[in-house]
Amino acid sequence: MEKRTILKLPGDGIGEIVLEQAIRVLDAAGFKADYVHGDIGWKYWCTEGNPLPDRTIKLLEKYKIALFGAITSKPKDDAAAELAPELQGKGLVYFSPIVSMRQHFKLDTCVRPCKTYKGNLLNFVRRNADGTIDEPNIDVVIFRQNTEGLYGGVEWTNPNDEVYKGLMTHVKFQKNFADVPRDELSISTRIFTKKATEKILRAAFEYARKFGYESVTLCEKPNVLRETSGMMFKMAKKMQAEDYPEIRLKNTNIDAQMMWLTKNPEDYGVLVAGNLFGDIISDGFAGLIGGLGFACSANIGDEVAVFEPTHGSAPKYADYPVSIVNPIAMIASACMMLDHIGEVEMAKRIRNAIAEVIEEGKVKTYDMMKMHGSPDVIEKGAATTEQMTDAIIAKL
Ligand code: NAI
Ligand code: MG
Repeated sequence: MEKRTILKLPGDGIGEIVLEQAIRVLDAAGFKADYVHGDIGWKYWCTEGNPLPDRTIKLLEKYKIALFGAITSKPKDDAAAELAPELQGKGLVYFSPIVSMRQHFKLDTCVRPCKTYKGNLLNFVRRNADGTIDEPNIDVVIFRQNTEGLYGGVEWTNPNDEVYKGLMTHVKFQKNFADVPRDELSISTRIFTKKATEKILRAAFEYARKFGYESVTLCEKPNVLRETSGMMFKMAKKMQAEDYPEIRLKNTNIDAQMMWLTKNPEDYGVLVAGNLFGDIISDGFAGLIGGLGFACSANIGDEVAVFEPTHGSAPKYADYPVSIVNPIAMIASACMMLDHIGEVEMAKRIRNAIAEVIEEGKVKTYDMMKMHGSPDVIEKGAATTEQMTDAIIAKL
């Protein structure tokens, strides 16, 4: 096995904690790599006015593969207030560095698997008509368009003349919003391009074919969002008919899908959606398999790929003297990295080790015991972050 160089982007809060644990597991599994540190996150916003410094972009250009922990983002006014005094009043505007990274490197395919771990106390259970309880086995992979849509960043409050004039050319705008004072308008656009839509749809169908999933479910809202979701639905139908006749295309609306989440989650395989709806359904499914402590993800572009847990920096847990958070989401994200670079067997071994620890049920972080996070969960029998990692390593 050739030795790799991996960029590690710990970020803020628990991002730093869980990333170190993932690297311990990779080491124990025999993955040979040098880890180069990259600066990202809130502290660089406060001290430099840029949460994703250019030097980090250069490192990512060079090394192409990164493990990312999590960052802290705060609302506009807090962002301005926490900026170093010498940087204030210079017109600096905070923008989420993970969103910037996705857009800069065109990491347009976000992959989020949610699979039931046997024996996890947090698994979703359901009551049957005869009163018995069952625990459906969930095995879904969500493909989320990662760079456009509602998170594309094309937004205005109090739009300028050109934008306002443009909006006034739309009959619906004229009818419904013409009498709203301009400074009372906030507008976020939802832009879908054919190229990126084609790409995420194809990634979903290819994955379904490769791993034997019988369906791809498009989860949008084409009946209302006629242009964006409508285009995506039309393209999905054409692609399925022409190139993937053996795979069933299902079409659900995001709102109904959230209801079906708990009715029949086992009926879904691969799901595909735009940026916001993909974000929503992936968190929804994650809730059925144990929540944020288990939800892993990959952000994949043509050249660069970044692997991260879907959880954030959980600032309230970041400064505990002994960390209590669950490292599994980050470790499973590292497994996605291994798959991506062809170390499929190693990824499988780590996943099996995680599954064994969970099924055995002896070592559980506080979330797996349905506790509220607080420093005393350890006295109450919860494993620390490090103990969970130790247990996974022991199974390896
Ligand atoms: P969060 O994901 O950081 O935490 C929400 C709650 O989920 C936590 O309070 C905790 O109860 C639980 N949780 C999260 N990770 C866990 C883990 N590994 N083990 C056990 N429990 C875990 O989301 P929140 O509180 O909404 O945001 C905190 C900060 O993180 C914000 O500044 C937000 O902007 C940022 N954020 C960053 C993301 C990223 O870096 N990709 C994603 C989501 C939020
Ligand atoms: Mg999210």
